[in-house]
Amino acid sequence: MDKMVIFSGSANKKLAEKICKNLKVKLGQAFISHFSDGEIRVEIGENVRGKDVFVIQPTCPPVNENLMELLIMLDALRRASAQRITAVIPYFGYARQDRKDQPRVPITAKLVANVLDEAGADRILTLDLHAGQIQGFFDIPLDHLYATNVFVDSFRRMRFNNMVIASPDVGGIKTARAYAKRFRAGLAIVDKRRNSPEATEVMHILGEVDGKNVILVDDIIATGSSIVEAARALKKAGAEKIFAAITHGILSADAVSKINKSCIDTLVITDSIPLADSKKSKKIKVASVSSLFADAIKRIHFEESISVLFNSLEKG
Ligand code: R5P
Repeated sequence: MDKMVIFSGSANKKLAEKICKNLKVKLGQAFISHFSDGEIRVEIGENVRGKDVFVIQPTCPPVNENLMELLIMLDALRRASAQRITAVIPYFGYARQDRKDQPRVPITAKLVANVLDEAGADRILTLDLHAGQIQGFFDIPLDHLYATNVFVDSFRRMRFNNMVIASPDVGGIKTARAYAKRFRAGLAIVDKRRNSPEATEVMHILGEVDGKNVILVDDIIATGSSIVEAARALKKAGAEKIFAAITHGILSADAVSKINKSCIDTLVITDSIPLADSKKSKKIKVASVSSLFADAIKRIHFEESISVLFNSLEKG
């Protein structure tokens, strides 16, 4: 392990520290500050020549600041002669801009992939990408982890039965099906229409939810509109308790107050994005992905297969 060095940007230092604790290594020294005009200044505080380097930085809000910080760290490490640099991006921002669904719009997820590659990343390690196809935007190796096992463990501890897994939109069917298989539960799909980036409307529910306990699964909760509208429709259709398992808790705008007022009993998110104190709520629980990342980093370092960590979902 003495050839491995792990650095963290400022987006989620707590997660990076937990990963290091898991791996029994010290977090590498990197000094991040700003010049008086707001430009980011990075200084790597230790020798990385010939080292296998991992930089942990989710590109969560403030997205552009965190992304730029990551790019600058990659550049510093490449110029310091690291042997291999893995960008560990627990939450990959801009992922929802992954296709040209209207005229004259960018594919920003591809642009971000290009700049990461250009800045010096040799590989990417990430979690629950908004769309699996984003892997193909990179021409460097990418390992894609899934939070399924982390959530399955949390919900198993809650011990409830008569369960249905629901996707809040048709895009999430594959993920929901994988969870349903793991829980040996039924499957339901909420057919949602997005009226604007902040507002959604439920059209239909496919599947039987009357008298069932429902777990809504999704990759991202931003404004909370999708999940709250889906929960309301499920309740109307006779669902008993409603839980949600959502990997990336962006929780922007008034998402937390929407969740607090909603019929959702518990929302479980991961620590891919740090949960600010101002966003804490009795309804929101956090499951850690630190051991999942620690395991993956160790396997990448020792050139071992990491497929055992995500087989369950890919075969779903
Ligand atoms: C959409 O396709 C995603 O999977 C999420 O459902 C969506 O990004 C959630 O956004 P919001 O919480 O703002 O409805």
